Amino acid sequence: MSSIVDYFLPRLPGINAGSNHYFVTKHSIFEEAGWDIHTGVSFWPSPSTSIVLGDAAAIKEVGSSRARFPKPVQQYASLALYGPNIVVSEGEQWKRYRKIVAPAFSDRNNKMVWNETARIVNGLFETVWDGRDVVTVDHCLDITLPIALFVIGSAGFGKTLDWKEEAVLPPGHKISFKESLHTVTTRIFLRLVCPDWMLNLTERGRETLQGFNELGVYMSEMVKERLTAEKVERHDLFSSLLASNNHEFDASMLTEEELVGVLSFKMTLGYSVVYTIPGNIFIFLVAGHETTAHTLCFAFALLALYQQEQETLYQHIKSVLPGDKQPEYEDMSLLTHSIAVFYETMRLFPPVIGIPKFSAEDTVLEAGNINGEKKTVVVPKGARVIISAPGVHYNPRYWEDPHDFKPSRFLKDWPRDAFVPFSVGARACIGRKFSETEGIAVLTILISKYKITVKEEPQFAGETFEQKKARLLKSRPGITLTPIRVPLVFTRRT
Ligand code: HEM
Repeated sequence: MSSIVDYFLPRLPGINAGSNHYFVTKHSIFEEAGWDIHTGVSFWPSPSTSIVLGDAAAIKEVGSSRARFPKPVQQYASLALYGPNIVVSEGEQWKRYRKIVAPAFSDRNNKMVWNETARIVNGLFETVWDGRDVVTVDHCLDITLPIALFVIGSAGFGKTLDWKEEAVLPPGHKISFKESLHTVTTRIFLRLVCPDWMLNLTERGRETLQGFNELGVYMSEMVKERLTAEKVERHDLFSSLLASNNHEFDASMLTEEELVGVLSFKMTLGYSVVYTIPGNIFIFLVAGHETTAHTLCFAFALLALYQQEQETLYQHIKSVLPGDKQPEYEDMSLLTHSIAVFYETMRLFPPVIGIPKFSAEDTVLEAGNINGEKKTVVVPKGARVIISAPGVHYNPRYWEDPHDFKPSRFLKDWPRDAFVPFSVGARACIGRKFSETEGIAVLTILISKYKITVKEEPQFAGETFEQKKARLLKSRPGITLTPIRVPLVFTRRT
């Protein structure tokens, strides 16, 4: 059972009150300590030793020793809204989920991610931007969030979403699937923090509950539809999850009410396999939406600030895709500059800042420092162990000029163990290829068609480059590291 404190301050991947501190301080806490492992004692929520890691070798050891350093799953309890799932489990249960879920992230799904992303981005140019030569956006997240939402909608759920509103609602629904998805992704924090009675007090709260309930019903309808309809080959995550469960589960055994019941966590089926589907799909939605959208928003801000880097990227894209050739999934490995920009953005702005583990036994880790020295750090049983992504990403032991935006560092040999935006080891992100495919497709298609600049605003006339950079790249903690306001101008390339 999670404590009341956990209830009000849910610790999701990337959310925890303290983790933003690691982004603000980056590598400096380690510099002050003189070692790349920092030990402290925290008294809240209960007294415990905290071991923060900015040392690549120690991070690798923690990530690859799952039994010694498990995940504190009780901190994630609030993510079990739609049932148990891969993120909130450990041990044998986690192994089982990972086995069920892994085949869904297939090469065919990645290809679908690419094709859907291309369709959605081209839809933005044609439908929303209406072929205009110059488009100004007040906050780039207003573009990257819907893109990521639509991609997870179609490549995740097999629902074709686009920029146009759906004209007719399906029977029994008061809001569209897209709206329910939008509510769930934007209001998850509110939903997790406030009990139902509190949400029922306000219009916004009632809308939130409605969004979550409607998504549950949409998911139940989709499960039923897919399990009873004639088999059609589909490659979205949802279909693959269902397919991987088919041999263990017979949908005709369930009434609709039972299915809905399963999805509204009544657990009428006990520990049924299908029960794992909504929980896991919900997790894909939460884990796979904001992370990519925020990264892309930071990437466009950086490219607008660093025009030379943007030009280098554009020229490289043109060399891979001469004339009007549309990029295809098969071109991805050739788009090395797009990959480098995506990685460099995640190095500087890792969406998940602190990745929590704990020590299951009294043990030790080895810390290094800039002088090449080593020392042994005692890790008592029960200690909180936090992988600090900014701690290692801004560590000058691994990265030259760590504060600078230099995508080219990813074009030569780079220190793989010091790059941890997707975590490391067996519990690393299962959606990594999904998000990279989406990210590379968005960057490539957008930069090939539009030049991006920072929107000039009279109130900021006269600011220096450094001031402008600080303004555009300002972030706040959220479910994942969130850009605050990135106003940009997109000018069509001729
Ligand atoms: C830029 C994009 C992304 C980043 C930076 C990212 C980062 C991470 C990190 C750091 C973890 C480990 C969390 C922890 O241990 O607490 C994780 C796990 C996970 N991610 Fe991602 N993620 C991204 C995109 C995605 C996408 C697109 C999906 C799915 C469509 C996804 C699904 C998952 C799942 C299911 C897990 C749990 C894996 C397990 O416990 O075995 N992620 N991700």
